[in-house]
Amino acid sequence: MCGIVGYIGRKEAKPIILNGLSRLEYRGYDSAGIATIESGKLTTIKSLGRVSDLEKVPGMESLKGTLGIGHTRWATHGKPSRENSHPHMDNSESFAVVHNGIIENYADLKDFLKDNGYTFLSQTDTEVIPNLIHFHYSVSTETGNKKFIKAVTDTCNMLKGSYALEILANDYPDNMIVVRKDSPLVIGKGQDEKYISSDIPAILSFTKDFYLLNDNEFAFMSRENIEFFDKNLRPISKTAQSITWNAGAAEKEGFEDFMLKEIHEQSKSIRETIGSRITENGSSSIPDIDVSKDYLKSVNKIFIIACGTAMHAGYVGKTIFESLCEIPVEVEAASEFRYRNPIINEKTLCLFISQSGETADTIAALKLAKSCGARTIAISNVIGSSISREADYTVYTHAGPEIAVASTKAYTAQIALLAIIAIHFAEILELNEEKVNELKKDILELPNQIDEVLKTKEQIKQFAQRVYKETDMFFIGRGVDYAVALEGSLKLKEISYIHSEAYPSGELKHGPIALIENNVTVISVLTNRMLVEKSVSNIQEVSTRGAKTFIVTNQELNHSFDTVINIPKTNVLISPILSVIPLQLLAYYISKEKGLDVDKPRNLAKSVTVE
Ligand code: AGP
Ligand code: GLU
Repeated sequence: MCGIVGYIGRKEAKPIILNGLSRLEYRGYDSAGIATIESGKLTTIKSLGRVSDLEKVPGMESLKGTLGIGHTRWATHGKPSRENSHPHMDNSESFAVVHNGIIENYADLKDFLKDNGYTFLSQTDTEVIPNLIHFHYSVSTETGNKKFIKAVTDTCNMLKGSYALEILANDYPDNMIVVRKDSPLVIGKGQDEKYISSDIPAILSFTKDFYLLNDNEFAFMSRENIEFFDKNLRPISKTAQSITWNAGAAEKEGFEDFMLKEIHEQSKSIRETIGSRITENGSSSIPDIDVSKDYLKSVNKIFIIACGTAMHAGYVGKTIFESLCEIPVEVEAASEFRYRNPIINEKTLCLFISQSGETADTIAALKLAKSCGARTIAISNVIGSSISREADYTVYTHAGPEIAVASTKAYTAQIALLAIIAIHFAEILELNEEKVNELKKDILELPNQIDEVLKTKEQIKQFAQRVYKETDMFFIGRGVDYAVALEGSLKLKEISYIHSEAYPSGELKHGPIALIENNVTVISVLTNRMLVEKSVSNIQEVSTRGAKTFIVTNQELNHSFDTVINIPKTNVLISPILSVIPLQLLAYYISKEKGLDVDKPRNLAKSVTVE
């Protein structure tokens, strides 16, 4: 899940690469490294820790080359250490490589190379790559650029697994080769310069024109030119696409952390995700999904497949789709779905949700669904992401770049988009007109209501100051409130390292209530008018056993509880978009009280591009 950056042009490469790497640190922060070529000589500098540690390594000040590659690592093979950090070189130090992904057959390749006299300095899977390039290069009969290119394609033809690679060679001091397979890579285009990165926001301040590489596509670059070709060296023609995100969107803009900024951006991201897709009076419009009434009538099951927070958005989507479209919906973790021979065919519609669009399990599940004949829709936040290129249809959440590892604005935008898609399908199917019209109005109110919810932050901060030293917490709710409880619990675990569990309120009495004792914190979400009395009884059950209660509600409660966060009333189907915000803020303030790194929690990475 590492981040990789590269530059080839007329400026000094180091500051551009370090800047890009620090923006990609959300992808991994075990170690960092850089390689440049100057006066025909490859130099590599690496260090354990963060990009800021790399900047201080002696020798960094003298790196002046105008082409280079950089890496920030999330270790998969070999512990985080200086030897295991990238770039890796071959034994003769002729080639330098940075890699994002996993080489599954590295053990066999290592044996092959050892048999041919190569030795290894690291425990990584990556180190086989520069040595294989050297192996092919040294036995090649080709000449000129083709010799370098062919050594790389021959190497990639031996690799199994996933990789985005940037490769420099001592013999080619004015060139760089990049390639991707199942790991992300984009190439930004400038005047006589190219910027390479794992994602667009990291280099958005340098260029807005991007080439998006597909799997098994290679690019051979000089300062002035770029040639694309496939693994059999057949040329590919590509045009650059212009990206409309502004560079400021990837900055903190005065907020202390990206997560806090992203929590505050939710009214904007919901407004942009709604866009012109729904209006109060007209029919909904989603030109990206071109399906007929006959097709939708033939669908007898919808699967929503995703991971983590995106899957939690899927649980809310299930209730919305079942209520408006009257089609049964199943929600499943991509990592489970793909390994259990799910029953799917041409009557199944599969929806895949992924903020990054690069989650390996979600992409693999999508490929599986397609191979079984299901139609596939991707919901992603990243234009041109891998998932968007695999699915039959892609609809984008317009949440803007999400940098904090803990997802906030992408989650609420995903729910809004699921609701809009469900409305669109219900309109095509001519079902539930009244419900649909009400929901449309309620969705359009959300942006202003989000700003109202944000006003509760002081109250939430005070509660966080009371509870941040605790070690266990519980989240409860019914229906979509339970889906939100799951998300609130995940947020807390991720960034505050406090153990927490989410339960359907009615399940408490079947076991978990045994854990409730004096002073345990129980967080409840309560937004369904129909279930208010039952839910209040559940909260009382824990309160009489001594629990501290924190309630997020838009209902009038006839009992007094410890802390009550009142949020605006809305349609229960989309209430999670409002009720999750106090839980995001609670996790945030607890993490801050504990002095933790909110944006980069331990052991996690933003895009999980490994299985
Ligand atoms: C969210 O806070 C998590 N970091 C994580 O669960 C995330 O939602 C999951 O990895 C899926 O990512 P994706 O949406 O980019 O596919
Ligand atoms: N497998 C490589 C390593 O462990 C790259 C890791 C990654 O992309 O996450 O160094």
